[in-house]
Amino acid sequence: MDPFVAGLPKCELHLHIEGTLEPELKLELARRNGVELPYGTVEEARDAYRFDSLSSFLVGYYESMAVLRTEPDFYDLALAYLARAAAQNVRYAEIFFDPQAHTARGVPFDVVIRGLRRALLDGERLHGVRAQLILCFLRDQSAEFAMATLLESLPYREWIVGVGLDSDERGNPPEKFAAVFARARREGYLLTMHCDVDQENSTAHIRQCLDVIGVDRIDHGVNALDDPELAAEIGRRGLALTVCPVSNGFVTDGPKADVIRRMLDLGLRVTINSDDPAYFRAYVAENLDVVRRELDLTRDELVRLERNAFEAAWLPRAAKDAYL
Ligand code: HPA
Ligand code: ZN
Repeated sequence: MDPFVAGLPKCELHLHIEGTLEPELKLELARRNGVELPYGTVEEARDAYRFDSLSSFLVGYYESMAVLRTEPDFYDLALAYLARAAAQNVRYAEIFFDPQAHTARGVPFDVVIRGLRRALLDGERLHGVRAQLILCFLRDQSAEFAMATLLESLPYREWIVGVGLDSDERGNPPEKFAAVFARARREGYLLTMHCDVDQENSTAHIRQCLDVIGVDRIDHGVNALDDPELAAEIGRRGLALTVCPVSNGFVTDGPKADVIRRMLDLGLRVTINSDDPAYFRAYVAENLDVVRRELDLTRDELVRLERNAFEAAWLPRAAKDAYL
């Protein structure tokens, strides 16, 4: 790891808390909750994290969540992430959570959010990392289930900064959730959506994010450059793209570093993030280091990537300025 990358103050904007479940904690939670796993050692559990596409990744990802049951489980998960983040000099993080992946198997919404919320408060106190929550809807579930989840979140409105959209993109375009996101906007949530790498209809989905949903950010979005007019519009709106190079490398042919270079050259607000670091075995510093090596980035360019992220953070101006 390059020492400059290691020491750089960081901002992480694309991080699924369920994707931070390391095999050690997974085994501990399985024991605690009496959940049977098909493997008994950390090595076997790590070996089971194998996939070569978004869909094959998602299968193991949702199966692993069976060990998360109680409020302390969600607390332990998030506090462990924040401790790791602090060790990489992450100063601020926006953290996705997937409530439907838990409520669908009988874990109440309030168990999930109370555990996460308590970890965020303790994480700032104990580790000095500030963080906010983004509620993600599962796009391969119905719009009705998403709307019900949005309504369920409203009593906790003050604990959630925005909403996102994740899971399997195939056949699940942004416009499927137009009414849900319009309501979320009216409730004061900020809006983002995944436009995963190299999907069917990638540019059409990004276009819907702009024209139908009116997103405040795009998660991944690396195919925006396939359409120069789309890329220009993202630039005009100053929308940030939360790119996850190591994650992209797992589900496609590589980390898409050439795209990151072109985004930098076009002056787009590109940011570097980890997505599901326990599965892709790379936290944000390792992701930055991959891009540094691939593109031979200068220190100024590395600083620019982190400034882009702090600038794009869903924080009041004065709070962002404190980091910049
Ligand atoms: N894409 C879609 N769904 C996800 C992802 C992702 O990158 N990570 C966790 N769930
Ligand atoms: Zn993601």
